[in-house]
Amino acid sequence: MAPSFTEIAYRTMQQGRSLAGLVHKELSTKVMEVVAPDVVPKTRPVPNEMINALRQSLDALNEKDWRDSESGIYPQSLLFDIPWLEWAGRYPRVWLDLPSNWARRRARDVKDIPDLNNRDLYPEYYLQNFHHQTDGYLSDHSAELYDLQVDILFNGAADAMRRRILPSLRAGLNRFADRPQGSLRILDVATGTGRTLHQIRAALPEATLVGVDLSEAYLRQANRWLNQSNKPLVQLVQGNAERMPFDDAGFQAVTCVFLFHELPPVARQAVLQDCYRLLESGGVLVLADSVQLKDSPQFDVAMDNFRRVFHEPYYRDFIIDDIDQRLKDAGFIDVHAESHFMTRVWTATKA
Ligand SMILES: C[S@@+](CC[C@H](N)C(=O)[O-])C[C@H]1O[C@@H](n2cnc3c(N)ncnc32)[C@H](O)[C@@H]1O
Repeated sequence: MAPSFTEIAYRTMQQGRSLAGLVHKELSTKVMEVVAPDVVPKTRPVPNEMINALRQSLDALNEKDWRDSESGIYPQSLLFDIPWLEWAGRYPRVWLDLPSNWARRRARDVKDIPDLNNRDLYPEYYLQNFHHQTDGYLSDHSAELYDLQVDILFNGAADAMRRRILPSLRAGLNRFADRPQGSLRILDVATGTGRTLHQIRAALPEATLVGVDLSEAYLRQANRWLNQSNKPLVQLVQGNAERMPFDDAGFQAVTCVFLFHELPPVARQAVLQDCYRLLESGGVLVLADSVQLKDSPQFDVAMDNFRRVFHEPYYRDFIIDDIDQRLKDAGFIDVHAESHFMTRVWTATKA
């Protein structure tokens, strides 16, 4: 059957985003080579076979994204729901931010964060400039640029990767199919600026959604982004994912996207343990993060380059960590995982 106009529009948009991400990265590297050659990261050359494999797996991700929207797992309108105007307005600031990024790289300063009056709230590992990000996760400036920077990093596929949690989330919630959707509570851990919650709300519009994150600034951005329409309100709570400020067994589903590679191993286990505590028996945990060396050895150079270009102090450990075992150690059953482009999605059930 010939593709519909909407399908062609989606594919064209994704190709455009991918190209825009590649062009931005190429240009900013060229500028860095001229203006700040001493801080250009030493990356490994990416073999042609890997470039082809990456391209194919990105196409496969977009294909799955399209098919799942077609089959009603989430609405097709979500695929086009991107704050273009906002991002266009913020894009010049991504460039203006580069000199301070280079200065921190030059000084090898990864702890350049704003003064905090509630420092005790934050674990030491958190108080860093992850990705060499200005202010770390601790300012409105950082929160305003984050979504756009992530979209560029993943060549326009960040939301498609986040949406990979939705089929498992919906399937897991089927265990509670005898209850009204409005009574289901879903917690998004390390929700950041709320883009994952935005995807979840589109797929499960009646469920009660809660997001938790350590960054007040990111939660403020999430609040602006999620709670200014006439859609159901999302609750946003500041807290450490290692011991979240919620009662035991109060959620039927917990999601967590792109957090684990930024945690030291002990914190990873603590977060899984706390997710287990918060879930009702039979509840589902859906976790998405970077692919790992074991499941995607063909992307080893890309993974290595990622940690060379960005300040990601726990990434090298994460990509060899046994998350399946960690989930089982936390008490989860029915653990399984699948990879899509650069993301791996784990699903597990509370016994
Ligand atoms: C890479 S971002 C991912 C954000 C979001 N889930 C997404 O899909 O874009 C990591 C987030 O984890 C949060 N974070 C890191 N460590 C945390 C912790 N121990 N407890 C709660 N949030 C944490 C950061 O503030 C940041 O918002």
